[in-house]
Amino acid sequence: MHFGAIGRVPGDPILGLMEAYAKDSNPQKFDLGVGVFKDEQGLTPIPAAVKHAEQRLLDRQTSKSYVGGHGDADFGRLISELVLGNGSPLLADKRVGATQTPGGTGALRLAAEFIAHCLPGRGIWLSDPTWPIHETIFATAGLKVSHYPYVGTDNRLNVAGMLEALEAAPVGDVVLLHACCHNPTGFDLSQNDWRAVLEVVRRRQLLPLIDFAYQGFGDGLEEDAWAVRLFASELPELLITSSCSKNFGLYRDRTGALLVCTHDAEKLLDVRSQLALLARNLWSTPPDHGAAVVAEILGDAMLKKLWSEEVEAMRQRIAELRVGLVEALAPHGLSERFAHIAAQRGMFSYTGLSPEQVRQLRERHSVYMVGTGRANIAGADAARLGALAAAIADVCR
Ligand SMILES: Cc1ncc(COP(=O)(O)O)c(C=O)c1O
Repeated sequence: MHFGAIGRVPGDPILGLMEAYAKDSNPQKFDLGVGVFKDEQGLTPIPAAVKHAEQRLLDRQTSKSYVGGHGDADFGRLISELVLGNGSPLLADKRVGATQTPGGTGALRLAAEFIAHCLPGRGIWLSDPTWPIHETIFATAGLKVSHYPYVGTDNRLNVAGMLEALEAAPVGDVVLLHACCHNPTGFDLSQNDWRAVLEVVRRRQLLPLIDFAYQGFGDGLEEDAWAVRLFASELPELLITSSCSKNFGLYRDRTGALLVCTHDAEKLLDVRSQLALLARNLWSTPPDHGAAVVAEILGDAMLKKLWSEEVEAMRQRIAELRVGLVEALAPHGLSERFAHIAAQRGMFSYTGLSPEQVRQLRERHSVYMVGTGRANIAGADAARLGALAAAIADVCR
């Protein structure tokens, strides 16, 4: 037997949560677990701009032959403009290149391989806590993974601790930063905090890898890019992973990019030659459909406007749910205790609820969230915020 010694590993806890939610027969249940945007009806919609673009592709496409190793050049240019801004000098100077990847996860995996192969010996610093897949992607690529404090047991952002840890990081190490809508906590750095991080990064000659998975879900498409653009304009070299899963609703079409910024155009060609080789070993050439949809939207003024409005509507829904939930907690005397929910950004919230309270919420009220107390606020619906607040109040008694 070849497979006899292979044991079983536990599945992703969020998938287990999804299964338990699906089996729950309570019609008043809440799914605040899985990290996808949901509308008021609990559906994860396909944006109308995506539908239009798909129809155009269907009518026009004559081949499904391979795209190149870096993917579609139009997609690469347009996603670089979306991330860095149309007028970015990096674009004019040809100091930025995008490699199309299977989602933001693919971009992170490619970045991990790039660091392991082309920058050997560099460790990577992740926020504590961070998206659990960050931990495994970089460890799997053989990198030494360290952590900087981010949100402590008091459920507050710990910028001083973060800066202190990065100050002590070995020169040349990589630091992974969440551009906006920090997953899992929802706590984002202020502009002053970002400037302080930039100074440490410069002083310690760290290489930032900025994970940009939620552009448009925080304060707006342009606003959310502020820190990325600051770092791109102030530093000679930078890695950025961009995901189109959430803001384009293209989750299963696996659409993303790894953007590399270099100090000159010549170096970009060197780096891109390496990335093409690494990507070839990982997935050969990237999936096309989602990227073709994104290029169709971003390259067309009418579709881009429609899409921007749809992203803004998603963003506003989340912002309103955050404020609404805190208001609904007020009659229970809990609005101050949970005020941070309205201040956080993106879909996720570290609520501050304990694992025991999370368990009680699930067992007594069919409210499903991750054991750490992370709730996907976009999984709630405005019409039932009163019921959700009452359930939270019940387990806080
Ligand atoms: C922080 C973060 N980075 C990257 C991703 C990658 O998303 P995808 O691979 O679906 O594009 C996610 C998705 O949940 C995320 O939360």
